[in-house]
Amino acid sequence: MVDKSRPIGIFDSGMGGISVLGEAIRWLPTENFIYYGDSANAPYGTKTKDEVIKLSEAICEHFIARDVKAIVIACNTATSAAAGYLRDKYPQIPVIGIEPALKPAVETMSVGAVLVMATEMTLKEEKFLTLCDQVAVERKVLQLACPSLVKLVESGITEGEEAELAIRACLNEVDYSDVKAVVLGCTHFVFLREMVKNVMGEGVEIFDGNLGTVKHLLQVLEERNDHETTRHESTIEIINSGGMDLVLQSQRLLNLYKFL
Ligand code: DGL
Repeated sequence: MVDKSRPIGIFDSGMGGISVLGEAIRWLPTENFIYYGDSANAPYGTKTKDEVIKLSEAICEHFIARDVKAIVIACNTATSAAAGYLRDKYPQIPVIGIEPALKPAVETMSVGAVLVMATEMTLKEEKFLTLCDQVAVERKVLQLACPSLVKLVESGITEGEEAELAIRACLNEVDYSDVKAVVLGCTHFVFLREMVKNVMGEGVEIFDGNLGTVKHLLQVLEERNDHETTRHESTIEIINSGGMDLVLQSQRLLNLYKFL
C-alpha cells in the first residue's frame, strides 16, 4: 500500500520558490512538504546549464534520500535547464516544473504586447523559445532579464523604496508603453507582484505560473492515487543551503505570501 503521507519536495535557487510553497500549502493543506532553497548558490539564472543541472541534481538526491513522493521545481530557470534530465534520472518520481505563464497571459489579454520578466537562462533556453512559438507567434513579446530583482528578493527586500527603484530601473530597459500583460517568469518576482503592478499602472494584468504548477501537482498526485487527504497536522520543513538566517527569512516570506 502506498504511504500517502510521504513529503513533497519543492526546491528553488533560494527564496523564490517559497511563493510556490505558499500556494501549495493553500491548495494541498493535508500534504507534508520539504522546501529546499539553495541560496548559497543563487542566482541560478546567470550560471551555465550544466551548473544548474548539477545543483538541481544534488538537491533531488537529498529529496530521494528523504523518500519524497513528488518533486516540484519551483524555479523557472532550473525547470528549463534541468527538468528533462531529472525526469530521465528519476523515472519513479513525478517531477513537476514551472514555466512562464505566457499562455494564460496571451489568452486573457487579447490585445497589446506581453512583457516577460525572467532570468537570462530562462529566456534563452529552448523551452521558452518553443513556448513562444506555440502560443504567441502573432503577439509582440518583450523579454526582460532582471538579475537585480533576484538579488533584491534574496536579500529579503520585497517592498519599499529600494524595491520600487530596482523595478523601475529594470523596466527602463524596455519600451513598455503598449504592454497590457506582464508575465513574472521567475518565482522570486512573485513577491514583487504588487509593486510591479503599481509601477506599470492601471490596465496592466500580472501573470505567474504558481497556481498552474500547484494544480498540475495535485492532478499528478490524484492520478497516482497518492494525494493525502486525511485531516492531520501537516509538516512544513524549510532547509536553506545558506544557513539558519535564510531559513528564518524564508519563513517570514512564507507568512507574507499568505497575504498576497
Ligand atoms: N527563482 C528562479 C526562477 O524562477 C531563479 C532565480 C535565480 O536566478 O536564481 O527562475
